[in-house]
Amino acid sequence: MEYAGGAVDLLHRSRFVTLTGAGISTDSGIPDYRGPRPAGDPPVRMPMTYQDFVASADNQRRYWARAHVGWSRVTTADPNDGHRLLAMLTRELVITQNVDGLHRRAGQHHLVELHGRISEVCCLDCGSVSARTAVQAAMSLANPGYADVHAGSTIRPDGDVELDDTRDFVVPRCTACGGRLKPDVVFFGENVPKQRVARCIAAVDAAESLLVLGSSLTVMSGFRFVRQAHKRGIPIVIVNRGTTRGDDLATVKLDLGVTEFLTDLAGQSERSRMVVDSAASFSTTGAGTGDSTSITA
Ligand SMILES: NC(=O)c1ccc[n+]([C@@H]2O[C@H](COP(=O)([O-])OP(=O)(O)OC[C@H]3O[C@@H](n4cnc5c(N)ncnc54)[C@H](O)[C@@H]3O)[C@@H](O)[C@H]2O)c1
Ligand SMILES: [Zn+2]
Repeated sequence: MEYAGGAVDLLHRSRFVTLTGAGISTDSGIPDYRGPRPAGDPPVRMPMTYQDFVASADNQRRYWARAHVGWSRVTTADPNDGHRLLAMLTRELVITQNVDGLHRRAGQHHLVELHGRISEVCCLDCGSVSARTAVQAAMSLANPGYADVHAGSTIRPDGDVELDDTRDFVVPRCTACGGRLKPDVVFFGENVPKQRVARCIAAVDAAESLLVLGSSLTVMSGFRFVRQAHKRGIPIVIVNRGTTRGDDLATVKLDLGVTEFLTDLAGQSERSRMVVDSAASFSTTGAGTGDSTSITA
């Protein structure tokens, strides 16, 4: 294994904000966009842009048909050890580019889901937000057996499947106004809500270091925080299999699995907790205590 000790020490000594991407969820069985593919597999098709989605009813039908079939496989994914360890290791802000809700389900304390959540749906016409489970049930009623017939389709990263002929699919409508529904996630070509970005900027401004886990940093809405940290001159640790757009800005770059790295970080945290504990019990006879960091064991 690549030596991770320098990064572990650096993070252990500072209050770090974390930025995560699709690479933290691949161990839960959700594919990423830009990681290596098995030999012979075609490259992953990029998702529909916001502009394409709103351009036509046909595009919305194609989107919802694929999303309907892919849904059961998104809902069967569970948080993995990487999500759980991160929730245990930090109470500073975690900014995730993922829409799968797995950090939240792992109990992450202080979280911004930059690109929203696939489990919610909004209406483009009246703005109301509803649960995806309710929309899924409405789609099942209007399209009996559809998901079963297409159950063998290949799953794609953003929770839908490869499916070309979607002409027969009946599209769900908003129950409040009959308008057009869209998953409440930020599509390519769409802006991240300003307040959400502002919260992340403030956290990176107050941080002592930045940790990036499992992201190619191709998407600017995530990469901007690496640029901000670099501009501030705080250390940046990137843990990612393969190159990222931020490699030149990193203080430490580790080509490692996210879960592997977090296991190391947690091990170090546990060792120092034991040192602090023994110092604390010793302090009853007059000795000092340990220092305070963002890492909580
Ligand atoms: N799970 C999800 O919610 C999900 C999945 C795919 C894409 N997306 C969306 O698409 C955009 C893609 O950008 P991105 O940078 O997050 O993803 P990306 O696919 O561009 O990059 C993921 C990176 O993680 C690496 N990786 C994969 N598994 C890893 C592991 N176990 N350990 C270490 N590295 C690993 C890959 O090699 C790749 O470089 C995001 O904005 C996100 O909204 C979300
Ligand atoms: Zn509506």
